[in-house]
Amino acid sequence: MAPQKEFLMTTEDFHYIRDVVYDTCGIVLGEHKKEMVYSRIARRIRALRLTDCKAYISYMDSHKEQEFSNFINAITTNLTSFFRESHHFDYLTETLVPELKELHKKDRRIRIWSAGCSSGEEPYSIAMTLANHFKRPTWDFKILATDLDSNVLEKAKKGIYTNESVTGLNSDAAKHWFLRDKSNQHCKVNDDLRSYIHFKRLNLLAKWPIKGPFDIIFCRNVVIYFDQTTKDTLFARYAKMLRKGGYLILGHSESMNLKKQTQFKALGKTIYQNLG
Ligand SMILES: C[S@@+](CC[C@H](N)C(=O)[O-])C[C@H]1O[C@@H](n2cnc3c(N)ncnc32)[C@H](O)[C@@H]1O
Repeated sequence: MAPQKEFLMTTEDFHYIRDVVYDTCGIVLGEHKKEMVYSRIARRIRALRLTDCKAYISYMDSHKEQEFSNFINAITTNLTSFFRESHHFDYLTETLVPELKELHKKDRRIRIWSAGCSSGEEPYSIAMTLANHFKRPTWDFKILATDLDSNVLEKAKKGIYTNESVTGLNSDAAKHWFLRDKSNQHCKVNDDLRSYIHFKRLNLLAKWPIKGPFDIIFCRNVVIYFDQTTKDTLFARYAKMLRKGGYLILGHSESMNLKKQTQFKALGKTIYQNLG
């Protein structure tokens, strides 16, 4: 017999949660995600001292302002790391830096969007890769980093990471961009690196109160949780936010249906170019 759960979550409760999550943030929670949803929601039920999932759902309905973002934060999957999928950073340095230098030699303005930035490792990796090529005050180089989850964004803004998480960085980069704390357990992104990035909460399914055009949009390991319709709509919106010839970079297991997204061309390694 399966061990008794701490809180009851009926199929009806799970389907209610699944539908709310899909409607608000596009994340698809299949039946196989029931255990994961239970364990994440159980933390909220415990923290609020409620009796079961149904009680949590009605609490959420009557305390939307306070609880909804906690609920969404509990559901999102935020796995990330510095220089994850390093071939994208090689491509930045080897191919895109020379191209951007040439293209923007007059306006000297570079704009990058890290959409679904999680706790910041991705936008900080982009900044570390590009800051030395686009130095101030000659260049106006900025990164917009957005996520739906307010907890990970707070972590990203603080820029404090365990020493272990920066071990993949080469020692020059680690010395140049990070400050060690006294206990030597953590390190902090320095103000210089931090100043290239503007962090903002943004739901990719909602309105985007942001200004383009961007030269590059990173949206890696985000659409893996979306269905085809949501992906198609999102990619079409990205195309409008990119300058002509700009790039959209997806995660390793993500792809685009180019028959539908005729405005993009595949360049390999999950990199796509906006044909405009
Ligand atoms: C697995 S992380 C990927 C982080 C980083 N891009 C990387 O590849 O390492 C996925 C992120 O997408 C965010 N996300 C999921 N749905 C979203 C939505 N509708 N709007 C904005 N961000 C979303 C999650 O909160 C999470 O932080």
